[in-house]
Amino acid sequence: MPDIQIHDKVFVPFISKEKIDSQLAVIAERINTDYAGKIPLVIGILNGSFIFAADLFRLLTIEAEISFIKLASYKGTTSTGNVVTAIGMEENLKGRHIIIVEDIIDTGKTLASFMPEILSRQPASVKIATFLSKPEALQHDVKADYCAFEVENNFVVGYGLDYDGLGRNLPELYVLK
Ligand code: XMP
Ligand code: MG
Repeated sequence: MPDIQIHDKVFVPFISKEKIDSQLAVIAERINTDYAGKIPLVIGILNGSFIFAADLFRLLTIEAEISFIKLASYKGTTSTGNVVTAIGMEENLKGRHIIIVEDIIDTGKTLASFMPEILSRQPASVKIATFLSKPEALQHDVKADYCAFEVENNFVVGYGLDYDGLGRNLPELYVLK
């Protein structure tokens, strides 16, 4: 695979579609085992997770539901600073087994500030599935239960992730050169 240019930056091939597919199969198998008979509600966080969520969901052989939300952050009045709120969360989460699906956990800030809102709706359980995580960048108490790849602290695009709006449609993952 050749290098690619997006806007002003050059990216090099990083994780192939074959590797992505085989890691997703591993995660899906674990979810199929862990959630047999539980009818989990998968909640994908837009925009970044849409490809990962679709590919992972297709590999689930158990009964499962899926929904998508957007997160919007605004300056909170509390000392914690930015607050993240969910847009489009219409499902009743009470008593449900929730699997949050993210494209990447970087500092963990997004999920850390969103988790209280999920928990306040009294789900039976909440787990996190992420395509990528950057352990070196983590600053918040967020742990992925299912993670396809742990990567170094470099900017990546493709497979749903974007650089300034572009690159989401690349089938493989690329990293900044
Ligand atoms: P936090 O720090 O809240 O960040 O865990 C999560 C969000 O930051 C974006 N992000 C990236 N997007 N390449 C991207 O295209 C990256 O390397 C990257 N690192 C963080 C992403 O939107 C994610 O949901
Ligand atoms: Mg994102």
